Amino acid sequence: MNNIAVLTSGGDSPGMNACIRSVVRYGISQGLKVYGVRRGYAGLIEDDIVLMTERSVGNIIHVGGTVLKTARCKEFMTPAGVDKAIENLKKRDIDGVVVIGGDGTFRGAKELINRGILVAGIPGTIDNNLFYTDYTLGFDTAVNTVVDLVNNVRDTSMSHDRVSIIEVMGAGCGDVALNAGLAAGADVILVPEVKWSIDDVCGKLNHAKKCGKQCSIIILSEHVCDPNDLAKMITVKSGLDCRSVILGHVQRGGSPSAFDRNLGSNFGAKAVERIMQGECGVVGFRNGKYIFVPIEDAFKQTRKFDMDQFILAQRLSF
Ligand code: F6P
Repeated sequence: MNNIAVLTSGGDSPGMNACIRSVVRYGISQGLKVYGVRRGYAGLIEDDIVLMTERSVGNIIHVGGTVLKTARCKEFMTPAGVDKAIENLKKRDIDGVVVIGGDGTFRGAKELINRGILVAGIPGTIDNNLFYTDYTLGFDTAVNTVVDLVNNVRDTSMSHDRVSIIEVMGAGCGDVALNAGLAAGADVILVPEVKWSIDDVCGKLNHAKKCGKQCSIIILSEHVCDPNDLAKMITVKSGLDCRSVILGHVQRGGSPSAFDRNLGSNFGAKAVERIMQGECGVVGFRNGKYIFVPIEDAFKQTRKFDMDQFILAQRLSF
C-alpha cells in the first residue's frame, strides 16, 4: 500500500475539512502518497484527482463545507461508471480509498470494495442517520447551529405572542430535531419516529397559553408534514397566531464545533490506519470508543431513537 485517495460525497457536513486534513497529513506521515478526489464519485469517474500535500490542507480545520467539493452521482451506480472510476484509480496505483459521507456514499463504497479496492468509510452527515455510530460528523455542529437560530426565532416569537414552527433537516431521522429541541427548550418536537396528532399539539399549545406562556416553539423534522400547512391548521384549530420557518441549508454550513473537528481528526487517522492494515470497513464512535466495523453494519438499525430524551424534552417543556 503506497497510494490512497480521499473523497467527500453526498450532502456536505461541518467537520469534513478537519477530516480531510487528518487523512492527508496522517497518511503522508505514514509514508503514503495521498490523492484528493474532487466532487465525490463524479470526480472519480471524470478523473478529477489531485495529489495532496500537507500544505494543501492548511487553514481548513475551522471551515465548514468541504474543500474537495461534493456531489450526488447516479452514474457511479452503473457498471460503466464504476469501470471508469477503477481505471482512474489503477493508473495512479491507488489501492485504498477513504470515503466521507452518508448512507449513499457507503453504498457507493460497496461498489469499490466489490472490485477489490480497500475502502474505509467515514460517517459524514448532519443527519446522524447511520445507526452503528453514536455520532456522525457534522451532527453536533448542526444541532448547535439550529439552537442558535431557534434562539433568534424565540425573540421575535416572544415579541408577537406567537407559536413558531421551525423545520430542521434529518432525512428521515429525528435526531437533529430531538437534540436541538431539548437544548432550545422547544414545547413540541415532531419527528418521524413518534406518532402525533394535530389535536394533541393544539391541546398542548392552548394549555400552555392558559398557564401564561406567551410564545411556543415547535421543532419539526423535515418530511413529517408541510410546515406551512401545519401553521395554518394550528391557527384555525387553536386560534393562536402561528408562523413557520424552514431553516434549510443554513443549518448545514458554518464553522465546525470543537467536537466535530476532533471527531473528524480521529476518524481520518483511524481510517488511514485500517486501510494500511489491509482492512475494509467503516469507522464510528460508540459508547465513548472509536470503532471499525464491516460496511454491512452501517446499514443495520442498531441504535434506536432515544425515547428517554424525547420524554424528558416533553416533561420540561411547559
Ligand atoms: O443528508 C443531508 C441533508 O442535508 C438532509 O438532511 C437533507 O434532506 C438533504 O441533505 C438535502 O439535500 P440537498 O442539499 O441535495 O438539497
